[in-house]
Formats: sequence, C-alpha cells, structure tokens
Amino acid sequence: MVANRDTPKPQCVSGPAVIGQDGACNRRHTSGVQPLLEGPAPGPHKSGVIAAPAQTGRGHDDNVCRELSLRIRDFGERVSEDEAGIRSLLSRLDAVAINNLRYQLFAPYYDRHMLGHELAISNLLGQLVSLQSAAYPDALIGDSILEMTCGTGSVIDHVCRLLPPSRLTNLRITANDWSEDMKAIAREKLRNYPCQFTYASEDLGELSFKRGTFNTVFLSQTLHLIIDSDVQRQERESNYMFIDENRHLTEKLKVLRNAWWTLKERGVMVIIDEWPALLSDRGGPLGPGFAYLFNDGLRPADLRMVQDSIMSQLPSARYICQLKVPIDRHHHMYLIAYRKEHYEQGRLPETPGAASLREAAFQAVMHAFSSMDEHLRIGMNPRGGERPYVDFLPIATPVVASTLADIPTAAASCDCVVLRQCMHNQGKTERFNMISASMNALSVGGALVFIDEWLPPVGSPHPLRQTDIGSVYMGPFFRNLVSAGAVRVPIYEGFENSMYGYQFRKVI
Ligand SMILES: C[S@@+](CC[C@H](N)C(=O)[O-])C[C@H]1O[C@@H](n2cnc3c(N)ncnc32)[C@H](O)[C@@H]1O
Repeated sequence: MVANRDTPKPQCVSGPAVIGQDGACNRRHTSGVQPLLEGPAPGPHKSGVIAAPAQTGRGHDDNVCRELSLRIRDFGERVSEDEAGIRSLLSRLDAVAINNLRYQLFAPYYDRHMLGHELAISNLLGQLVSLQSAAYPDALIGDSILEMTCGTGSVIDHVCRLLPPSRLTNLRITANDWSEDMKAIAREKLRNYPCQFTYASEDLGELSFKRGTFNTVFLSQTLHLIIDSDVQRQERESNYMFIDENRHLTEKLKVLRNAWWTLKERGVMVIIDEWPALLSDRGGPLGPGFAYLFNDGLRPADLRMVQDSIMSQLPSARYICQLKVPIDRHHHMYLIAYRKEHYEQGRLPETPGAASLREAAFQAVMHAFSSMDEHLRIGMNPRGGERPYVDFLPIATPVVASTLADIPTAAASCDCVVLRQCMHNQGKTERFNMISASMNALSVGGALVFIDEWLPPVGSPHPLRQTDIGSVYMGPFFRNLVSAGAVRVPIYEGFENSMYGYQFRKVI
C-alpha cells in the first residue's frame, strides 16, 4: 500500500506543522522558532531605505539555514517522542490485536484509498480469466474458492464480475479474515451474488480447513504483511536497526504451505501483491501516526526469492503465470499463480504425436497472449491514469520467426515479433542477433515474445537455461524494454516439459 504522496497538502507558513487527519494544517508548539516566512513581502523600509531583494544576500541564506535547522530539530524531537509512545504501546499488543486495530481504523477509508490497487488487481484477474479460457480448459478458478484474507471483499467481487454469470450459482466461496471491520464491508459488498458464502476468522499461520478442500486459493495484498513475531521482537528491541525482510520469509512460506495443503489436486494458488510494497511516512488518509502502526509490520520479501522458494518447497508446484501491471508511478501489482500437479520428473516421450502436442501448446500460448492483450494494454496505460509507459500496440499481426531470415529488416516495421522455439537451436551469437534484429524491427510499444520449451527436446544442440533468456541475452536491451507477463502451458499433462511464453514490450 502506498500513501497518496502526491495529494497536495496545505502549505504551512509558520511554526512546525502537522497535517491532521482531515488534511488541514495544524500548528503545534513552536519551541521558540521564529517564523521567517510569515508576514508581508519585503518592501520599502519605513526610513525609505529599500530592503535587499530576497535570495541575494548571504545573510538571508543564513537565516533560512538557521530556521530550517531549528525546524528539523524540533520536528525530529516531536516525532521521536510520538514514535516512542506509539511503539511502546504497540509492544503490549499481540499480532491479532494490532491487525484488527489497523483495519478498524483503516476500513472506512480502505476502498477509496486503495482504488488504484483495485484497478490493477481487477485488470490482472481479467488477464487470468483470459488465460484460463485460452489455455486451461479445466479452469484456473474452480468452483470451491478460498480468499485467505478477504478484507473488504474486493478480490471476490472482481472474480464474480469476471466469470460468466452462469458459473456464479455453483461457486462456494470461503472468505477468511481476522478483521471483523473489513469483513462487515465484504458481507455488504457481496450480498447480492448468488454464490454460497462462508465467512471465517482463521489465522493464516494456523488454517484449519481440511486438506484438499479448495480448487483455488487467493492470497491478495497480504504476503508483505506476514511477519515472524520472534524476529519482529528482536527488530523492535534493536530499535528497528536490524530489519531484513528475508528473515520473515520462513513465516511467509509457512502460510503458503498451509494454503497449499487446503488445495485439491490440480488446484491453483494465486498470489497477488505489490512490489515494492510501500507506505510513505504520511500514512495515507489516517496520517503519520498510522504509518507507525502499519510500517511496524510491513515486511515485503524479494519477489524472486518468493518464487524460487515456492517452486522448491511446495510439493508438486507448477508455475502457471507471472503477470504485472503498474499501480501508479511508484510500484507494480503482480499476480503469480501455481498449480498443484503431480508429474513425472522426465521429458516428453519422443513419440510421433509429440510434434502435434508441441504445435498445440505453442498455439495455446499465442492464443493466451492475444486473449490477454486488451487487458494488458489497458492495465499498462489506462487513459487519464498516472501510468508510466508508452501506449502498447495491439499484437494483431505477429511476425513469427524461427531464424534470423524471418525477421523483417526494416526498422520499426512491426507490432509483434515472436521468436518461436528457436533459442535452443541457436548458438550464443545467433541468439543475440535474433533478439537484436527483432528489437530493430519492432515499433515502440510493440511486443517481443519468446515462446520456447523447457525442458527442451532431447538432443537440442544448444541447451539454454530458462533464466538465461532474461539475465544473459536480454541484458543489453533492458533499457528499451519492460517485461509484460509470462505464461506456461503444459505440452503433455503429466510430464515436465512445458511451453513457456515471455512477453516484453519495447518502450524506447
Ligand atoms: C491489505 S488487506 C487485503 C485485503 C484483500 N485480500 C484485498 O486484496 O483487497 C490485508 C487483510 O489481511 C488480513 N490479515 C492480515 N494478517 C492476517 C492473518 N494472520 N490472519 C487472517 N487475516 C489477516 C487483514 O485483516 C486485512 O483485512
């Protein structure tokens, strides 16, 4: 969550200022600081001597410096006094009491304040539903759903709006959350949907739902709030000098593991969260005091570490996708999804049918990207929003290239280049040349898409690690590109091989 940093605040012209909850500028004690900026603008002196114009004299700068240093010291003293008081009270409450206080205070403002986050989440879920229709006929969002922290019910609301109305009567949705204040808003928001709702108040770390209950589990905007209370105690005792977010990773994985057990076989876990997770010291609509209450338990973890840990520590976790759209100029919302799926640790058998399975998987990835395209383009650049990118072009007429000769030589002549299942057949120089030629051929806003297979076919002449596409070959082009989503489609259910699509957009 990021506070709305850019909301204009009233300018204070004298005395140390505090921005009140209503956004008004209140004065606190002045501790003898003389207002420098108050009073009439410099003008002719009574004696008729013209005052020196502001900014020119050295003495004038000294005054500004003196006032600034006094104000900073005064501000610092007051802040540390307030901070010490709030922290000492905080240390007397347990995690559930702190959480519920936070959301008791925040609930009335939550939906309005988080509108940018909600738009991003709705867009990502739209992409997920498109991916489901294009490439996962057995559904990524099944009939039995758990929202681990339903909050004000927004994620469930988006899901119900995005699925065909005919599915809603079959949905059994468990909306869990510690905070009764947040759930009260959720109940009101969701009451007209014909789904079957159950509300629960379980602690994420101790979920008691039966194993294998749900088709789909959502954990949204909460991963960055999951903390290890022993580590936090140490952080508080050190006056927060030793905060290292990754020390909370074990606790986050414990929560994800609990969620994983509640999934049925082939169930899907969807994690939605913002990176970086931020709350400015303004504290949003509730002011700086709330920032202390909130930041005390804000511990975002490194996205790559989270993903690697999921793949290595959750049994049978198979990657589905990583999608992202900007929330505002400060950060992105991500959606990552995994399916619980037992498979052989082995390669697709090289049977005569393998070629057609590969072709079908390739077409499914292409279809997924084109189905998701409209959502993606709106999410990245909604009109009138403060989003950072150039307009993305529709990927209507992709150039599908397997060799360098397939890529147009005219600069900025196409909207989309798809490098099809060729990276494993190319040496390093050829790979680089193909990417470079594609970048030249693409117009700004166009898409560079890799569709390739991991594990590669047996006998592939130039095996390529999946991560090398990004870290080695794309390196020279990163200033010109942003990543815009990745999806996986199984080639043959039950085996390790899958077709992966990675989409980048040219932004310079
Ligand atoms: C930022 S809100 C997100 C709400 C919702 N998932 C969404 O994306 O709109 C975080 C929610 O997590 C809940 N929460 C945090 N820690 C929890 C825990 N350990 N057990 C249950 N709920 C928790 C809070 O009460 C709060 O409603």
